[in-house]
Amino acid sequence: MISSFDFVIFGGTGDLTMRKLIPSMYHHFCEGLLDCGGRIVGVARSEMDSKKFRNLVNKEAKPHIEEEFIDKAKWAEFLEMLHYVAVDVTTPEGFEALGKVLDEHPDRQRVFYLSIAPHFFAPTVQYLQQFGLNKNGARLAVEKPLGKDLQSAKEINSLMRAVFEEEQIYRIDHYLGKETVQNLMALRFGNSLFEPLWNRSHIKSVQITVAETVGLEGRTYYDGSGALRDMVQNHLMQLLCILAMEPPAENNANFVRDEKLKVLRSLRKIKDREVSEDVVRAQYTSYGDLSGYIEELEAAGVENAESETETYVAIKAEIDNWRWKGVPFLLRTGKRMRERTTEVVINFRDVPHPIFPTAATVVHEPNRLVLRLQPEEYIKLLMYAKQPGDEFSLRPVKLDLNLNDGLKVRQRSAYERIMIDLLRGDQTLFVRDDELEAAWEWIDPIREAWQKEGSPLYKYKSADWGPTSANELIIKAGSSWFEESGI
Ligand code: BG6
Repeated sequence: MISSFDFVIFGGTGDLTMRKLIPSMYHHFCEGLLDCGGRIVGVARSEMDSKKFRNLVNKEAKPHIEEEFIDKAKWAEFLEMLHYVAVDVTTPEGFEALGKVLDEHPDRQRVFYLSIAPHFFAPTVQYLQQFGLNKNGARLAVEKPLGKDLQSAKEINSLMRAVFEEEQIYRIDHYLGKETVQNLMALRFGNSLFEPLWNRSHIKSVQITVAETVGLEGRTYYDGSGALRDMVQNHLMQLLCILAMEPPAENNANFVRDEKLKVLRSLRKIKDREVSEDVVRAQYTSYGDLSGYIEELEAAGVENAESETETYVAIKAEIDNWRWKGVPFLLRTGKRMRERTTEVVINFRDVPHPIFPTAATVVHEPNRLVLRLQPEEYIKLLMYAKQPGDEFSLRPVKLDLNLNDGLKVRQRSAYERIMIDLLRGDQTLFVRDDELEAAWEWIDPIREAWQKEGSPLYKYKSADWGPTSANELIIKAGSSWFEESGI
């Protein structure tokens, strides 16, 4: 059990708090992981007392917990852990009041969780220091966006580092909290089977797809970001690191992050004219009942909307090291795609000298490992067996592992994992300062090339798999996008 703590959420009345943070804490509470003397302190600008905050949580967070897990008595007990302090983070007054509340228990582990817009980071962190709230190894957790380029990421890092040690800072990438993403590590480093094959001698190409069916959904702030910053810089690059890194000597925070950092530093920079060869950016247009990106911006209140923001990116990335030299890592992510899926596909090299024909009705493709992370979790391996009959020809067969079968436990959400690791003080699934900067260093030249005139922004129809130029990109890399559900 986690001993008493004060978990302070800046942005305490916000959407993330109500949808994810409070429900995660409730699940931990029900599982007996939290000491009920611990406090969850919501902090936001609106004036209200703790009683009103509890009513708000009752109304807005409770519906995000599946009914079967709501136990009336437990819920009432959990609500008692919630407190509220009104703080306008741009002025000192509220911090004084917060300090008084926290000083009721000066020795408790404190966590400050910033679920607020990035321009509020600086005053918040500075006032935490000014009022001495960052004491006794207090932890600071920050949500993305962590910068919009290398320069701004460095500024955020140095701002935080002026007040907290790196060991106290937890940069959140919620993909790392997903059970399925951690399962990639288990697959690679918990089995001896794959590791000898996990290199350029046996693998021809790797694909990482994070496709979403949702569009803008009224989030006009997305227009200032786009898919490269919103998805690639963090989630896709973290997935790439986990797939490509060397085995860490131990499963601990710095050993794992050291290995991921080496991958980021080995990524070949794509710049200037190479960007139009190796990167495709695109924006969705209307199709049937589905509106296009520009219409959605207008519907969300932007007048005469014009936008060059990409809602789709495909990249051919290469890792310049001994293990991966010459193996293309094909990344793509998009909104309003045909299906919601997060999937990794490892295409193996073909046999060096084929001696069997493939059955007439079958297109021969080399062995392929499909790791599906969302919405279902499974692993499939495409292999070949003999076609029954007199002729000696091959037919494809699938080795099919459904990772949820036989598991009676509830799948934890990414935020549950993040919140518990924050309270335990385990940084393994959080991004270190140097990792964050190395990721931006790779992203920046791509954005810079896009800003130059003449860089194309392709279009794709809503509910499709992206623009045709993304197909050309992958064909040039000697592969094709894997798009069926199943093999
Ligand atoms: C967030 C992005 O980080 O991840 C969103 O800002 C995106 O734009 C979301 O929709 C996807 O997360 P998940 O867990 O639904 O795959």
